[in-house]
Amino acid sequence: MKEWLEKIDNAQSLEALETLRVETLGKKGVLTLEFAKMKDVPNEEKKAFAQNLNQQKAAVTEAIESKKVTLEALELNRKLEAEKIDVTMFNAEHTCGAVHPVMDTMDRIINYFQNLNFSVEEGPLVEDDFHNFEALNLPKYHPARDMQDTFYNKDFTLLRTHTSPVQIRTMLSQSTPIRMIAPGTVFRRDYDITHTPMFHQIEALVVDDADKISFANLKHVLVEFLHHMFGEVDVRFRPSFFPFTEPSAEVDISCVFCGGDGCRVCSHTGWIEILGCGIVDQNVFDAVGYENKSGYAFGLGIERVAMLTHNIGDLRSLFESDLRLLGQFK
Ligand code: PHE
Repeated sequence: MKEWLEKIDNAQSLEALETLRVETLGKKGVLTLEFAKMKDVPNEEKKAFAQNLNQQKAAVTEAIESKKVTLEALELNRKLEAEKIDVTMFNAEHTCGAVHPVMDTMDRIINYFQNLNFSVEEGPLVEDDFHNFEALNLPKYHPARDMQDTFYNKDFTLLRTHTSPVQIRTMLSQSTPIRMIAPGTVFRRDYDITHTPMFHQIEALVVDDADKISFANLKHVLVEFLHHMFGEVDVRFRPSFFPFTEPSAEVDISCVFCGGDGCRVCSHTGWIEILGCGIVDQNVFDAVGYENKSGYAFGLGIERVAMLTHNIGDLRSLFESDLRLLGQFK
């Protein structure tokens, strides 16, 4: 039996061990055959014969069981070793994405105003008439609604045409002083070289007690902001009209491409229109129940800024997901 125990101990695999089990304990195994000889053993020797065989059987069984445990552990280790994936291994085919110019620009602007302690507010993309128009001093049938080509839904909701409704939501849910920006998606029924039906805006609103906020505050914040975004450009405020601000202005910067001499990008005017702004109209404060307050607001289109800072000529290329374009902004 000793040789069998040695063979078992030397078994190199689970299959080899199984073969040894069959050869010893199987139907025609050496031990099984020994047991068969029992019938020929004289009665008085039967007991000793059986005891001896049982001991051998127990020894072999025990040896096989313990060898099995060892071999199984080895097998598991071998598998773990063979199937290991090195996730840190360099992969030459791996390509790395880049932040989309629109999101990159949005992040820069958000960062700038967060550093000035502005909070970041959000509102729903599907708005109602009150927040998108009515409360912003745009009553029903007012001709100024034509300025915005609105997508209406059947249930009288609409896709917000600007981020200004977030002004209303913030004033209705917070108290002054308010210093907020609202970045996000807006929608208009428009599609040509300079318009896409979906684009992005950032709104800003500052409100405090009466007489605390003036046009001078607005002007200072905007000039600093535009210099941060575009470098030392000239900034020009042009009187304009928005229903929710009075007085209102549109703000231009000197053309970042020709420095103001006139080129194709600025339509040979030397100036590029960049945002709309103004002092919050009293009617807007009335709509949200604010008394004795003063404030300013402005809104700008992110795509326009992204095109100027990333040197992109066609607005629509921002929405085409062409990896050759996007790959340039790593
Ligand atoms: N909501 C205006 C637009 O979409 C921009 C604006 C915001 C103007 C705030 C003035 C004040 O054109």
